[in-house]
This record gives sequence, C-alpha cells and structure tokens, in this order.
Amino acid sequence: MKFTISRRFAGTLALAACMTMSVTAGAQMKPAPKVDPVRGQQIASQVCAACHGADGNSAASPNPRLAQQHYEYLYKQLLDYTVRQGQQRPARENAIMNSIAAQLSDDDKRNVSAWFAGQSAQLDTARSKQTLELGQRIWGAGLSEKAVPACAGCHNPAGLGIPILYPRLAAQRADYVEATLKDFRQGARRNNAAMQEIAAKLSDAEIRAVADFVQGLRADKARGSELKQ
Ligand code: HEC
Ligand code: HEC
Repeated sequence: MKFTISRRFAGTLALAACMTMSVTAGAQMKPAPKVDPVRGQQIASQVCAACHGADGNSAASPNPRLAQQHYEYLYKQLLDYTVRQGQQRPARENAIMNSIAAQLSDDDKRNVSAWFAGQSAQLDTARSKQTLELGQRIWGAGLSEKAVPACAGCHNPAGLGIPILYPRLAAQRADYVEATLKDFRQGARRNNAAMQEIAAKLSDAEIRAVADFVQGLRADKARGSELKQ
C-alpha cells in the first residue's frame, strides 16, 4: 500500500514537472509582443498631442501628464478605457478617452504607451501653502484615524511608482489627480479595488490637499513637495 501511494505521488510529481516544463517552453516560444515607439511617436503627434503634449507633458491642467509613466500602466489604462468582450461598460469611463481608445488597435495601444513611457516628465510645483501639511501627512503617513494607508507605501516616497504595479504620480497634474480620485470614490473609475477603497475614505478637502502635494512631488527632493514661490 505504501508503495502504491509513493508511486502515485511520484507520478503526480512527474506530471507536475512535465506541465511546468511545457508551460515554460510555451512561454519561451511565444514571441514577445513587438513594440514600435517610432509608430507610437506618430500616433502621439497626430492624435494625442493636442491634449497630452507630443512628449506627454500636457499644457492644460485637466489633461494628465503621460511622460515617463510606466509602460504597463499606460497600456492597462488604454485597455480599461475600451469595452471588453462580454462587458457593457468600460472599467474606466471618460467620453473622450473611451472613443479614442476604441479606435486604437492593440498594437498601437502598446506602441503609443512605449513612446510616452520613454519621455521625461517636467518638474512641477504645489500651488497651495495652506494644504501642503495635510497633503504631506496623507502622502507620507496616511490617516490612521480613518484607516487610510500612506500613499508613499505603494507609489514610492518620491512618487516614482513601482513598475509594473503602481503608477508614477510625481508631477502629475493636481486637477487631474483630484478628478480621478473623485472618480474612484464615486465609481466612474472601477479599475482598481484598492484605490476605490482608499478614495472612498477621503473627504473633498483631503483629496484636494493630497492632489496638490502630488503635483509638487519631485525626485530631486526625495520626499518633499516643492511649493510654487
Ligand atoms: C481631446 C483631448 C484628449 C486627446 C486627443 C487624448 N486624450 Fe488621453 N486623456 C484626456 C483626458 C481628459 C484624460 C483624463 C480622463 C479621465 O479622467 O479618465 C485622458 C487620460 C488618458 C490616459 C490615462 C492617464 C492616467 O494617468 O491614468 C491615457 C493613458 C491617455 N489619456 C492616453 C491617450 C493617448 C495614447 C492618446 C492619443 C492616441 C490620447 N490620450 C488622446 C484627453 C485626451
Ligand atoms: C495598496 C497600494 C496603494 C496605495 C496605498 C495607494 N495607491 Fe494609488 N494606486 C494604486 C494602484 C495599483 C493604482 C493603479 C490603478 C489602475 O490600474 O488603474 C493606483 C492609482 C492611483 C492614481 C491614478 C493615477 C493616474 O495616473 O491616473 C492616483 C491619483 C492615486 N493612485 C493616488 C493615491 C493616493 C493619493 C494615495 C494615498 C491616499 C494612494 N494612491 C494610495 C495603489 C495604491
């Protein structure tokens, strides 16, 4: 009996090893998706530049900066703006971006993401002295009384994010950050459970404070947010 069990066990192990091998071999044989930043640059200058800037440093405040954002995050957003098979609504609702994303092929979503990821984000500054302290506190320590975690824990103290999971936020436009946190809170943006839960606990004033702090975050100051003089 003991013999049978161990033989069976050995068989299971061999099967598992075999499956692992074939999965690995499959992954190796499948070609990595080809990404063409030159084609991405063409799309950026023809379709995206008016709102996001040709290099992803948008001139107008409601439009997010895309420069230097991680490739995986950008590509995921373009997928989330598109209605997926079997779904009625996209996971991220915005009239402009829903129609733009619907017109980009999967390859072009990758190409344009690669282009913007390769650009440099311009530094920016926070605008309000009054809210800076509250913004810094939420960012660096969270709000323990409301069980809001520190943003820096996932987004990196300097706001650089952690590829591939957590987006870069440093120098992101305050008006956009405020709007997207409200979208998470109210459910128009349903593409991340953790962010929806966090935003649900933040008041308008707290959102405004942390959004302004984020705009002034800069890698050259490690942890601080630069205030506009
Ligand atoms: C008419 C203006 C406009 C144009 C053109 C436009 N965008 Fe946008 N884009 C926006 C706005 C506004 C938002 C914020 C939408 C929201 O709150 O969800 C946005 C958001 C995004 C985001 C999400 C950014 C983030 O930080 O989560 C990505 C990615 C993006 N756009 C890519 C593109 C690409 C690629 C193109 C060109 C193919 C493009 N956009 C063209 C206005 C525009
Ligand atoms: C547990 C990890 C975690 C924590 C803590 C966290 N975030 Fe996030 N955040 C994420 C993830 C993951 C995303 C990307 C969601 C997606 O895929 O669309 C994100 C996205 C965002 C975005 C959207 C970025 C963009 O370009 O649109 C903003 C703004 C944001 N977070 C702000 C904050 C703030 C402010 C805090 C602190 C109050 C915070 N986050 C805390 C994980 C976290």
